[in-house]
Amino acid sequence: MSLRTFILGLSASFGIAWLAIIVVPFIKMRDLAPVQLTEAADGTTGIFFPKRSGRVADGAQIYAENGCYLCHTQVVRPTYAGNDLYRADWGGLKADPDRGDTRRETNAYDFFGEKFAQIGVSRMGPDLSNLGRRVESIYAVGKDPSQWLYAHLYNPRQEPQRWKSTCPSFRFLFTERKITGNSSDDALPFGRHGNKELIPDSDAKALVSYLLSLKKDQPVPASMNFGPPKKKG
Ligand code: HEC
Repeated sequence: MSLRTFILGLSASFGIAWLAIIVVPFIKMRDLAPVQLTEAADGTTGIFFPKRSGRVADGAQIYAENGCYLCHTQVVRPTYAGNDLYRADWGGLKADPDRGDTRRETNAYDFFGEKFAQIGVSRMGPDLSNLGRRVESIYAVGKDPSQWLYAHLYNPRQEPQRWKSTCPSFRFLFTERKITGNSSDDALPFGRHGNKELIPDSDAKALVSYLLSLKKDQPVPASMNFGPPKKKG
């Protein structure tokens, strides 16, 4: 084999993969076209515009800075590539009190407002695409969902059933201080010990607001809706 063939072969092997995995998806997804809703399939007309509330942009940055993406994914894969849709409440809630089964696959619009799609590097912990929903409807029913998240970030092993959690503790996002005079309005109820109180820093607040915004199960146009087959009747 001549050096020329070798170099050409090497460039082709890496070049084709680079084109298919980086360049083509980037061109296809950087400027998403609006999706039209149709009367026949969606029962309404107009344009699909996904909305998210919370500190999406700065919260996503804290999420990235702390390496959450190293162990947590935010992508519910199509069923041909994995069984994500059938994992408990990953793709949405199996039994949402108002909307029933809301599970669906992730689509590019789910990352609206974020500079990077935090699809994640590995899956040591559960997928967080619908964490906001799970916290509100399953982990902290009838309680303040942000308190559950603060407690988890402070000590992931606090709940008895999570005693062997390997999620790191992010205590540096909190400040413990002595109460002098009145206690702070921001003080966390679980963090009050004697005359000490625990205050979430601004990064913790942005992160928790972002985590609560993770509800990537809003209804999508029928053309994009790939969920588990719904039972008839
Ligand atoms: C070293 C890997 C690792 C990193 C880094 C990590 N986690 Fe985790 N996380 C886990 C594992 C494993 C679990 C599952 C055990 C448990 O429930 O705590 C988990 C669970 C969680 C849960 C509970 C999810 C659920 O539905 O039960 C939340 C919320 C969470 N992590 C948030 C975060 C956030 C936010 C960050 C970044 C600030 C982060 N994690 C970084 C490994 C990690």
